[in-house]
Formats: sequence, C-alpha cells, structure tokens
Amino acid sequence: SSGSKDASSSSSKSNDLISIGFAQVGHESDWRTASTESCRSTFSKENGYDLSFVDCDNKSADQLEAVRNFVEQEVDYIIIDPIVETGWDTVLKEAKDAGIPVLVIDRNIKADESLYTAWVGSDFTAEGESAGAWLKAYLEAKKKTDKVNIVTIAGTNGSSAQIGRTKGFNKYVKANGWNLLDEQDGDFTQDGGQKIMESYLKSYKDIDVVVCQNDNEAFGAIDALKAAGKTYGKDGDIIIISFDATNAGLKDVKEGSINADFECNPLAAPYVEDIIKKIKDGGKPDSQKVYVDEACFACDDTVSSFKTDEGKDITMTVVDDKVL
Ligand code: AHR
Repeated sequence: SSGSKDASSSSSKSNDLISIGFAQVGHESDWRTASTESCRSTFSKENGYDLSFVDCDNKSADQLEAVRNFVEQEVDYIIIDPIVETGWDTVLKEAKDAGIPVLVIDRNIKADESLYTAWVGSDFTAEGESAGAWLKAYLEAKKKTDKVNIVTIAGTNGSSAQIGRTKGFNKYVKANGWNLLDEQDGDFTQDGGQKIMESYLKSYKDIDVVVCQNDNEAFGAIDALKAAGKTYGKDGDIIIISFDATNAGLKDVKEGSINADFECNPLAAPYVEDIIKKIKDGGKPDSQKVYVDEACFACDDTVSSFKTDEGKDITMTVVDDKVL
C-alpha cells in the first residue's frame, strides 16, 4: 500500500483555506512522528489550512506519485520531505509548470534550485562532523590512543540524512586513523538497528564505538548489546553515538546508555508557514535555504566543549533533570 491518506482532507479551493499537500517520508522513527505532528498542528484547519497528508511509507515511487497527485489536485502549496536526494527533476518541473510553489523540508534534494521555492532543514554533514569531533575529544580525554574499532548503523541509503552524516563523520575516521569495521543500512528503524547490531556482534569481536544514524537505530542496537551481555554507554566498554536527540533518545543519554546525541530538529513547519505567508503577501522567502538550529547532548561532562576541524565551536549539553 502507499501508506495512509487522510480521508478527511481535500484540496478543494471552494473555501478560504489554503490547501497544502505534504508528502511525508513515512513513519519509521520517533523523529518522524514529531515532524508529522509539527506539520499537522502548524497547518491545521484552525490556522486556515486544508492539509492533505500522505505517509509515503519510505517508498520513493509512492512519494513521486503523491506529489504528482497534488499537482493534479491543484493544491496551493506542496511540501516534500524527500526520502532520497535524487530523481526529483521531472515532478518538480510538473509542479513548476502548474505554478505550485514547492517547499522542501528536512532532507535535501539534488535538483536545480529554480525548480523549488525553498528548503528548510538540517545540515547533516555538520551533524556528522560534530559527532566525529566529539569522539576525537572524548577518546583524547579518556586517553584511548590505541586502535579504535567503529561500526556504523547507517540511515536509509541515498537519503541526505545518511549521506551527510556519513560524509561528516567519516572525515574524522580518516583523519584520525580509526578503523571503520562496517557500515550497513538500518533504514532509520529500531528493528533495523537491532538486526544489524546482532550481525556485527557475530562478525566482530572487538568493537569500541557504535555510531547509530538515528535514535531508533540506537534503541535497537542497545537491545542487541544488552542481549549479548555487552557493556556500553557511560560506564561500559562500548561508546554509543546517536543522532536526533528525540525525547526518548535523550532519556537514554540521561541514563547513560547513549554517550552523545546530536540533534536533528524536526520543527521545520513553522519556518515553512512563514515562507507561505510571505508568498501569499506577494513576496518571496528571505533565503532559498534555511538551516534550523540544532544542539549537541552528552551523558556526562568528559568533553564539555570543543572546536571541530571545520572551525565550529560546539558546546555539549549534559542531559540531567533540568533538560528532561
Ligand atoms: O531525515 C531525518 C532523519 O529521518 C532522522 O534522523 C530520522 O530519525 C528520520 O527517520
């Protein structure tokens, strides 16, 4: 199936509501739930919108079809959170020809900038760089200078979140001579994280660091490590790094099972609403690319602040009762 469609939604222009078609990635993670909720509450009827929401169930073909349907329905605006970076040109041209502004959120697309109105999302490469620079500082603080064995549980292959985080983190792998044992696609799900961690544990005896490209994968990896009797996190043998910093993720950071968590901000919708208001008033977005603010969290103050190789100053927030 192509995921769920809101039965209640329609793109009729017979009222004053602004019609929006939103082609969401799917429902693979806690982060995604937060993103969907943010869009639904921002683009509610009470706020003057008629939101047609399509959960694309992580299937690129379904997502292209959803966008095409929005064009046919002549919605006022289209929002896309692209599952993968590539393959967008044709459908974006169709939307452009129909005069429908397209707002891209969260993940990036590789397409000519003239084909969409604006993008609001995360700097995934910077997230990966922050994680790499944190690990470097953490290992130095712990005086761990011998061989560092790392496994990565990657996100959906071809998504800009996976591409950016991998690129950013792997720069540090290379620069510091760390040993990247393996890097497999966990599809940003808890189940994927668990299965891949189980297979890593069978293949590799000596793992020092597990990099999970989102919190749900980290939850799955932790289940696998626990079942195998491994120690991890704050007081354990294996360092766990994650991305997203969802509430559930930060709970694990606070408890010390995740060492460090690099935020991915799911609240793009209010920024998109600002852009829509500007367009409605005859203007255009201040900028074609908007980066949302993101913080970095740790379970303790072993490393409280550091500079990345790219020259960025990072402060780690220790997750305690005040944060959660
Ligand atoms: O695109 C954002 C990523 O996708 C988040 O890290 C992940 O949790 C989600 O599924």
